Amino acid sequence: MPEDTEEGAVELEARLEEQDAFEPPAAFVEQANVSDEGIYEEFEENWPECWEQAADLLDWDDDYDQVLDDSDAPFYEWFTDGSLNASYNCIDRHVENGRKNQAAIRWEGELGETRTYTYLDLYNEVNEFAAGLREVGVEEDDVVTMYMPMVPELPIAMLACARIGAPHSVVFAGFSADALATRMNAAESEYLVTCDGYYRRGDPLNHKEKADRGLESVDHDVETVVVDRLGDVQEHSLGEHAHDYDELVEDHAGETVAPVERDAEDMLFLMYTSGTTGQPKGVKHTTGGYLSYVSWTSQAVLDIKPEDTYWCAADIGWITGHSYIVYGPLALGTTTLMYEGTPDYPDRDRLWDMVDRYAVDIFYTAPTAIRAFMKWGADYLEGHDLSSLRLLGTVGEPINPRAWKWYYRHVGGEECPVVDTWWQTETGGMMVTTLPGVGKMKPGSAGPPLPGVSADVVDVAGDPVEAGQAGYLVVNRPWPGMLRTLYNNDERFIEEYWREYSNPDRDEWVYFPEDGAKIDSDGYITVLGRVDDVINVSGHRLGTMEIESAIVGVEGVAEAAVVGGHHDVKGEAVYAYVITEDGYDPSDDLRHQIVEGVEDAIGPIARPEAVVFTPELPKTRSGKIMRRLLEDIANDEELGDTSTLRNPDVVDDIAAKVRSGD
Ligand code: WT7
Repeated sequence: MPEDTEEGAVELEARLEEQDAFEPPAAFVEQANVSDEGIYEEFEENWPECWEQAADLLDWDDDYDQVLDDSDAPFYEWFTDGSLNASYNCIDRHVENGRKNQAAIRWEGELGETRTYTYLDLYNEVNEFAAGLREVGVEEDDVVTMYMPMVPELPIAMLACARIGAPHSVVFAGFSADALATRMNAAESEYLVTCDGYYRRGDPLNHKEKADRGLESVDHDVETVVVDRLGDVQEHSLGEHAHDYDELVEDHAGETVAPVERDAEDMLFLMYTSGTTGQPKGVKHTTGGYLSYVSWTSQAVLDIKPEDTYWCAADIGWITGHSYIVYGPLALGTTTLMYEGTPDYPDRDRLWDMVDRYAVDIFYTAPTAIRAFMKWGADYLEGHDLSSLRLLGTVGEPINPRAWKWYYRHVGGEECPVVDTWWQTETGGMMVTTLPGVGKMKPGSAGPPLPGVSADVVDVAGDPVEAGQAGYLVVNRPWPGMLRTLYNNDERFIEEYWREYSNPDRDEWVYFPEDGAKIDSDGYITVLGRVDDVINVSGHRLGTMEIESAIVGVEGVAEAAVVGGHHDVKGEAVYAYVITEDGYDPSDDLRHQIVEGVEDAIGPIARPEAVVFTPELPKTRSGKIMRRLLEDIANDEELGDTSTLRNPDVVDDIAAKVRSGD
């Protein structure tokens, strides 16, 4: 192998550097779930009925009458009058089909403990916990909040809710107590499933204390179920209205709960995500359309087969985990791997060690992780057999071609296609990406819209841009996995996603994801990033307004502006520009309180990279903060036009401060 010599390695690197398109490896194509390029035309000619192919991956209690009802657009309905149960589709039918002893979930704790749940084990515990939830008082359509780390009880609780028709709302465990309370209040959620703690970099972390603090700010009574993850390592007590998970499950040992027949359009879950305003958006997903869509994309894009061991290294607290750790993979009856901890514990080869030990077939992660692996160096992959891998995927933010190629070469050994999948919390599942068994891959470009999906790049007026020009990404047609509305807020749903490019008078509805993009002459789309006031830190979406309101909540702060600046590993990092109140001095102490304030309001992921004190913020004559200039400063780029500013001098002062690290 030429790679074994230094010269060979350099040659290979140079060759990869120049190559800007890659054909899918023949061995992959041969076995791919989808390998016929005719699928694009087939879906186009037969739209929207093409989506029956997705619905056919599920077992329905009652057949649907109509694939798509667009009579009340943009409140689209999919698979109308059909009924089904998501828990039945993810568990029971695999047990009935003779695969009860196949592993459904394999879990590894950070300290190395392992657990395997076969489909039968999963069936038993989901039934028992569903019975437990009913005992606690949960009824159909009650929203159950989950605030849990990566433990098997999280997907179990989600599936138990799905079984009894109670929508779940999972709040990422890294979010703060305040963030939990905001979401529980917004959803009027009276039930919480949480956990005593979990391990991070080898240390036990108290999670229950955070959950308890959050509950103090919830406006109504809440029944809580607590999973005991840490055992004797960390004692916890249960107050009134709190139940122990294990006891509940034991009390209902051996019980079964009939899966509740849900209408296709009934809510499966809510997921809160950040938007332009400070108030998070409750994205509503439904049972029939969502489950069909994530199953279909899991099959067509992730190429999942029941006999695979599949690993998505995201957190279930985000949509990626909902769609592609839990619902899609389990609906297809595969083995899904879950890992509790960080990729650098006990060392930076943890993930490769796991890929080797579990013989992982498919691996799906985020560009921020890939950039970290790159920085750590390929040596950490040495000595781990990664030959079980067949397909690699990435999601969450744009991936730079260098990181793509590193992933392709060092992790995939040039034998695995890489799918760069563009989608969002709102889209439920993947929208723009190559089909790994069909299309060529172009590093940095996500690819064409999936079959049946119609996406384009347009200018401000809504006209398609020329090839290579930057514009706005739009989606011209509904799709089964789409959000149906924002919880309790139909108006904001229309305002946020459908106002910009639709033409309601002509009943033409265009979905605007608020991303900038470019399109090549061959229809490949390169997503450039958000065009709203949302920043993307390590693939996590954060609203600048949310962070700003946390900062102005700190005593001594008069005004704050938050922008995203480039970060080598995180993609973007939070930059905060702060004006102090009269009588307060800019000090390290205040800076510390600001950082703490952000962590309390949102969580450590939103922690500012830099807090810059300034006597003024750059403002237009009408008083609007010029964020673009603040971004230029954060990125150490040449400053854009300052002539329209009321106070142009301030810009140079701020830039000088940032450069001096003050
Ligand atoms: C935003 C959605 C989809 C699950 C994880 C994030 C960005 C996502 C890509 C990609 C470029 C991407 C977009 C999008 N994004 N995937 N492959 N290439 N950008 O879900 O928190 O709802 O964030 O993430 O900006 O709008 P989310």
